[in-house]
Amino acid sequence: MKESIKVFAPATVANVVCGYDVLGFAVNEPGDEVIMRLTGKPGIHISKITGDDGRLPLDPAKNTVSASVQHYLNHIGKPDLGLEIELHKKMPIGSGLGSSSASTVAGLFAVNSLLDNLLTNMELVPFAMKGEELACGYGHADNVAPALLGGFVLIRSYEPLDIISLPSPEGLYAAIVYPEVDVPTKDARQMIRSKVFLKDAVTQWGNVAGLVSGLFLKDYDLIGRSMTDILIEPTRSILIPEFYKLRSIAMEAGAIGFGISGSGPSVFALTKDEATAAKITQSLQAHLKGISINSLSFVSKVNEKGPVVLD
Ligand code: HSE
Repeated sequence: MKESIKVFAPATVANVVCGYDVLGFAVNEPGDEVIMRLTGKPGIHISKITGDDGRLPLDPAKNTVSASVQHYLNHIGKPDLGLEIELHKKMPIGSGLGSSSASTVAGLFAVNSLLDNLLTNMELVPFAMKGEELACGYGHADNVAPALLGGFVLIRSYEPLDIISLPSPEGLYAAIVYPEVDVPTKDARQMIRSKVFLKDAVTQWGNVAGLVSGLFLKDYDLIGRSMTDILIEPTRSILIPEFYKLRSIAMEAGAIGFGISGSGPSVFALTKDEATAAKITQSLQAHLKGISINSLSFVSKVNEKGPVVLD
């Protein structure tokens, strides 16, 4: 059995515009790293967190990584296993890129690897959802499932949990831009209307089915025209500086579709190639700079692997 391990887990784009809480995909960068050691002394100890500007708790009961790892240890009948955890945040918190989920997934993948892969990545999903519950009040799976499984993922049902991995076209790229304004997921969830009109639901589930079909058919146009959200985006876009201007810039630069990543403020576009994705991030960042907003950008293929052991 290994005594220590270093793990990377990827960022994710949840919702994929039309699929609130039911669709998500993983990207190759950014992502978080966890170093975990067996200590032989009962209990979990978080020895170090970097890259969080002091915002994340070191208390193992309050930290999403240790709390979800503790759920896992309870489940496998080793509640007192001694572990030391180092968390290295390599992406902004509250960015809409599944920051808490990347950390939690890295932690769960690390402990499960140290224990000779007792569970499959699919079986780790409910433990990672516990981390999301702690981070934002609701255990949604559209970040943690793609972070654990890689690729595009559909959460067909939460009760019982039914998760399906979806294919995606080989050439598909994501252009992601994070405008540096903070949008906590908890707040972004509370602002959404809890009731919808039937005719709006019909439009939305048509688009979800269209997007899933487009991924299977490798039909970029169908993917693009299905990336429409009439339920959530009109409300949440208020939190994102010049959201509709950003959309028109991305679409004019060749995006097949554009929207909010997770609960925002990051936005993303899907493209048919890397050069178009790079052009989109440059144009969006130039526009944001012009209105005095700093931003970060990432261009990535869909990540097919999920978490990996480093070193
Ligand atoms: N589905 C979640 C939401 C994702 O939109 O609140 C959060 O990243």
